[in-house]
Amino acid sequence: MSSISIKNIRKEFPSKSFSKNKIIALDNVSFDVGEGEIFGLLGPNGAGKTTLIKILLGITYPTEGEAKLFDKDIKDVRSKKFVGYLPENHKFPGYMKGEQVLHYFGMLSGMKNKDVKKKTDEFLKLVEMDKWRKTKIKKYSKGMMQRLGLAQSMLNDPKLIFLDEPTDGVDPIGRKQIRDVLLNLKSLGKTIFLNSHLLSEIELICDRVAILNQGQLIKEGSVYDITTSSNSYNFVTSEISDDVVNTLLNNFKATLNSKTNFTCIVNNLKDLNDIIDFLRTKNVLIENVSKEKNSLESMFINLIEQTKN
Ligand SMILES: Nc1ncnc2c1ncn2[C@@H]1O[C@H](COP(=O)(O)OP(=O)(O)OP(=O)(O)O)[C@@H](O)[C@H]1O
Ligand SMILES: [Mg+2]
Repeated sequence: MSSISIKNIRKEFPSKSFSKNKIIALDNVSFDVGEGEIFGLLGPNGAGKTTLIKILLGITYPTEGEAKLFDKDIKDVRSKKFVGYLPENHKFPGYMKGEQVLHYFGMLSGMKNKDVKKKTDEFLKLVEMDKWRKTKIKKYSKGMMQRLGLAQSMLNDPKLIFLDEPTDGVDPIGRKQIRDVLLNLKSLGKTIFLNSHLLSEIELICDRVAILNQGQLIKEGSVYDITTSSNSYNFVTSEISDDVVNTLLNNFKATLNSKTNFTCIVNNLKDLNDIIDFLRTKNVLIENVSKEKNSLESMFINLIEQTKN
């Protein structure tokens, strides 16, 4: 069963000026998120990421299309039972202490008093905020606020957690702590749907991603497939003689990095093996052949640039 199933979602907002043109925040977006995945929703500012999360949570309604959480339509209030949410730029009242915030949200979500207490203890420890539980949150740093927000989103033991920019404004050590918490939640079988501009982080923890641009889904797939989608292969070999170098450059369109390292773009596996056969007939020893990996960030920038043209 999918945790999230999104079909042909469109969202229009009325234009901000007097123009008749509507803002199309989401345009025919469809994809699924599997159970137990960490799924990243990426896209430049204004791409429609927060709007999509808000639709899935029933905070705003789609103009067209439908979506399900664990096979329950998002219009069905029971779909909320499985869900935790950390909003973008959340604000808790500054006069409350960390533990009071969790108590308040726990009671709001219908938990029993004793369960709230137990979960508050458990999650404050998990996000390493236990020693700040009695401090008023107006004294918290941004990273502490995010970690408290994360604890809040887990309080009702959700199967699916939506996190809108969970590491926004958090320093590298705090970000690592948040990543570890998310991986821990994944190991407990939770599904995490997160939205972030920090692509190096997404690359470290997400199983799959979807990329939105101007309301449209422009790419969806596993992080591995997206970052290795080029057909460029790198070879590490024993030293190559000049005549072998010439053939590689002329017949195989290679790019030479050194006498023992070159890169080739191939169309298929047969082309790749032709190069290996050629090298072996010339007694070149092959140490390593690997598909070149791009960073998620460079793939993202390329994709967004391509859609501008
Ligand atoms: N309530 C609203 N009324 C009118 N337009 C809105 C509303 N909410 C969002 N929009 C517009 O919808 C588009 C998508 O906005 P959204 O907040 O979903 O983007 P985002 O991908 O989350 O961006 P960011 O990365 O900056 O958080 C934008 O053009 C935005 O101005
Ligand atoms: Mg947003």
